[in-house]
Amino acid sequence: MTNTTTVLVTGASGTLGAAVLSRLAGAGGDLVVRPMSRRARSGWVAADLATGTGLPEAVRGADAVVHLASGAGRNSAGIDVEGTGRLVAAARAAGVRHLLYVSIVGVDRVPISYYRAKLAAERIVAAGEVPCTILRATQFPQLIDRLLTASSRLGVLVVDRRVLVQPVHPADVAERISSLLGAGPAGAVEFGGPEVHSFGELAGAWRRARGVRRPVLPIRVPGRAGRELRAGALTTAARPAGTRTWGDYLAGSA
Ligand SMILES: NC(=O)c1ccc[n+]([C@@H]2O[C@H](COP(=O)([O-])OP(=O)(O)OC[C@H]3O[C@@H](n4cnc5c(N)ncnc54)[C@H](OP(=O)(O)O)[C@@H]3O)[C@@H](O)[C@H]2O)c1
Repeated sequence: MTNTTTVLVTGASGTLGAAVLSRLAGAGGDLVVRPMSRRARSGWVAADLATGTGLPEAVRGADAVVHLASGAGRNSAGIDVEGTGRLVAAARAAGVRHLLYVSIVGVDRVPISYYRAKLAAERIVAAGEVPCTILRATQFPQLIDRLLTASSRLGVLVVDRRVLVQPVHPADVAERISSLLGAGPAGAVEFGGPEVHSFGELAGAWRRARGVRRPVLPIRVPGRAGRELRAGALTTAARPAGTRTWGDYLAGSA
């Protein structure tokens, strides 16, 4: 008889989810990966965190859950907070032994509504009686790229040059998730990219790499959020860190 470990991956269709599926697919023969999406796909389980539909079936028989699904700022209360509560309850009922939740470095410092929801979800996971790891990661380059692309469409690059960011590639986060799964529940862990940059530096490198000539409109993010962002709330000194840089991403090599 083979001794398999089944891992449910929520948010498997997302940016990080794709990297996690690819990493776990190469992890070895005794690992069974069960990707989850709201949409029915062959070989995946269908479940919706906002309603709870399909969750008991999704977690049934799972040894571990990697929880990546998020409304990413849309319906945070229903998906990130209540949805995480539904998932934790289902995981507990199913006897899941390790729930790994991916959060964001600085959710406890930067007062924006999405981060408040992520922090609330962290607390639900920590209190939920399923042994857990809460992995706070820094920003993915794809997100920074999307923000700069959206801004440039307005005709200018709106940038608070002094905000500090530490891009981490999803492939590096996926490797970290894989090793944390192997090690077992670890509580709170942070993971960042190899370099801290000012947003001004990131935007400058992006303009050069993409050949964008839009002028930069310097702004100052107001209030406590701005102060925290400029003071490095989105960065971490945690080791190990990722290896793939913003430059690697822009060059298309990561
Ligand atoms: N992006 C970043 O820079 C960053 C940085 C640090 C941490 N994180 C965290 O990492 C995680 C993954 O981020 P990402 O950027 O990869 O996310 P993403 O690309 O926006 O993907 C979000 C995923 O959530 C799923 N989802 C949305 N609503 C759902 C619902 N009601 N029920 C079930 N699934 C639902 C979607 O799946 P379907 O559409 O297939 O249902 C999708 O796969 C998130 O928790 C995020 O907070 C992100």
